[in-house]
Amino acid sequence: MPQNVILETRSLGRDFNGFTAVGTINLSVKKGDIHAIIGPNGAGKTTFFNLLTNFIKPSRGQVFLDGLEITNKSPSEIANLGMVRSFQISAVFGHLTVLQNVRIALQKLDGQGLNFWSANKTLNKYNDRAMEILTKVRLESAAEKLAVEIAYGQKRALELATTIALDPQIILLDEPTQGMGNEDVEHIMQLVKEISENRTIIMVEHNMKVVAGISDCITVLARGNELASGNYEEVSNNERVIEAYMGRKKRSST
Ligand SMILES: Nc1ncnc2c1ncn2[C@@H]1O[C@H](COP(=O)(O)OP(=O)(O)OP(=O)(O)O)[C@@H](O)[C@H]1O
Ligand SMILES: [Mg+2]
Repeated sequence: MPQNVILETRSLGRDFNGFTAVGTINLSVKKGDIHAIIGPNGAGKTTFFNLLTNFIKPSRGQVFLDGLEITNKSPSEIANLGMVRSFQISAVFGHLTVLQNVRIALQKLDGQGLNFWSANKTLNKYNDRAMEILTKVRLESAAEKLAVEIAYGQKRALELATTIALDPQIILLDEPTQGMGNEDVEHIMQLVKEISENRTIIMVEHNMKVVAGISDCITVLARGNELASGNYEEVSNNERVIEAYMGRKKRSST
């Protein structure tokens, strides 16, 4: 595995009762990149994503993180090795404040486990770091609000904050801008860019503006297999990609 590759899959795939959702994918993700996974509906993006952290067990193939085979490790072992899937909103504790949510993630990183009942005094030592992270995701003014009360876009930002708090080297994001209006999309896009400093991000994303705006590398999946990989320019001009999206061949310019 070349030194600058942080994540690699070899012939990774998954069948469901004879149906091939993900065929045999060989993916290489470079350290420090924002790597987007795109493709038409049903292409196998989410399944592929879930195979990376062993959230779904592969039918074939292998996954390597920084040279170490992680194919058979549990999602929590993989998280401890530094690859974390962003928590869905459902994992944000609504009855706690925004600040408390981030503090819990920091506490977890400290190896204290998830413990709601820690005395506030014990948790207060995490306040400064938590506020720092909240400032990064521009949620500092919402710190004392209950998580259940904040707007949808802010919840997604909080989700990112609790992920950053775990200080992973690779963050997996499944459609970070899903269901957002333009303004929130812009905000999350900037945020993903910012949190990508010193980190690798792999994201499934449908919004082409986001993909074009911040990705270093894009892998296009269709029917469970890789159609193309490259930068935006390369994949958007690829005949097979155009055909997969449009259902037709690109017209020749003659
Ligand atoms: N648990 C499952 N059992 C059976 N089939 C499944 C299962 N999960 C996914 N599939 C099928 O595998 C294919 C790929 O699904 P997947 O959700 O990975 O696609 P996707 O690229 O994420 O699509 P979308 O863009 O709609 O999110 C689909 O045809 C889907 O119906
Ligand atoms: Mg999906």
